[in-house]
Amino acid sequence: MSDLTVLLYFLSDGEFHSGECLAAELGVSRTAIWKQVKKINDKYSIKIESIARKGYRLEKSLQFLNQAELISKINDNQIIHQKNVSVLLECSSTNQFLLERINKNQLDSHLVVAEMQTQGRGRRGRQWVSPFASNIYMSLLWPLNISMAEISGLSLVVAISTAKALQSIGISDVMLKWPNDIYVDNKKIAGVLLELRGESNSPCHAVIGIGVNVDMPKSSGASIDQDWVDIKNKLNKTINRNDLVAEIIKQLIQRLDKFSQEGFKAFIDEWSELDLLYGKDISIDGHMTLQKGVAKGVDKYGALLVESSSEVHSLYSGEVSIRKIH
Ligand code: BTN
Repeated sequence: MSDLTVLLYFLSDGEFHSGECLAAELGVSRTAIWKQVKKINDKYSIKIESIARKGYRLEKSLQFLNQAELISKINDNQIIHQKNVSVLLECSSTNQFLLERINKNQLDSHLVVAEMQTQGRGRRGRQWVSPFASNIYMSLLWPLNISMAEISGLSLVVAISTAKALQSIGISDVMLKWPNDIYVDNKKIAGVLLELRGESNSPCHAVIGIGVNVDMPKSSGASIDQDWVDIKNKLNKTINRNDLVAEIIKQLIQRLDKFSQEGFKAFIDEWSELDLLYGKDISIDGHMTLQKGVAKGVDKYGALLVESSSEVHSLYSGEVSIRKIH
């Protein structure tokens, strides 16, 4: 654990701690504590206040992601070992962390969660805003015994799993916007970024990245260029992020096995129950011939069905949005 992590853990209760006590606990000088506090204030979105004669205090209490808690809550054979779960204070991107493991031929299933991403990535080259200790940034490396050619629909299955986990903590009106955005009250609450490695006709490895807005600081939220919502606003309370990560993993692992065996067709009903676009007029961005139509659900490969000029087309990629009819 780095010095900064240890200091943050000591301060995580949101109470005052004197510089003297912290210095004694960490075995460093009071000046070293002061320097670490400054580093945290410069680097992370959460701030430590310093009051004469009282000491240092985090602006709000924090419940950190915790490896032991995650492992005991996930309780799944394939991921239960300590070596298969990494909890990081920060990284560039949790997806990148796992892609680097694949490059080094470390191909076992692996879960990584981080308190902060410095280069969090979203779909279509977008940035994923990833402030410190506020949200969930998680990725799962999963070997799949199917080829890349057979993998269409997997990202929709990940979105379904995330939606089910959100339902389990009381967000009953969660919806899915094709292909893999998770929405509440017409605002995005979570997103999925799937990256695949392997040859086209042999078993491949999936890096499944999931970001969930839990308690987005206002300053960070202001830089997001689409409508968003977080769990704190939706439920009017904070949640333990370890519980939600574990629930997402449980929902996901049970579906990944089924997906490997049966493909996306086994999930059409679950998708239909959560489909935000069904029956809506939509605009399509990034398609050669189809610019608009009416969404008609998904086919057995996870392609979006779009009715236009009395014909139904299958859309395999592209960005869609609900048309505002004036
Ligand atoms: C989207 O644009 O909707 C996809 C967002 C995916 C964000 C997650 S956060 C964890 C993982 N690491 C990343 O860099 N991106 C994904």
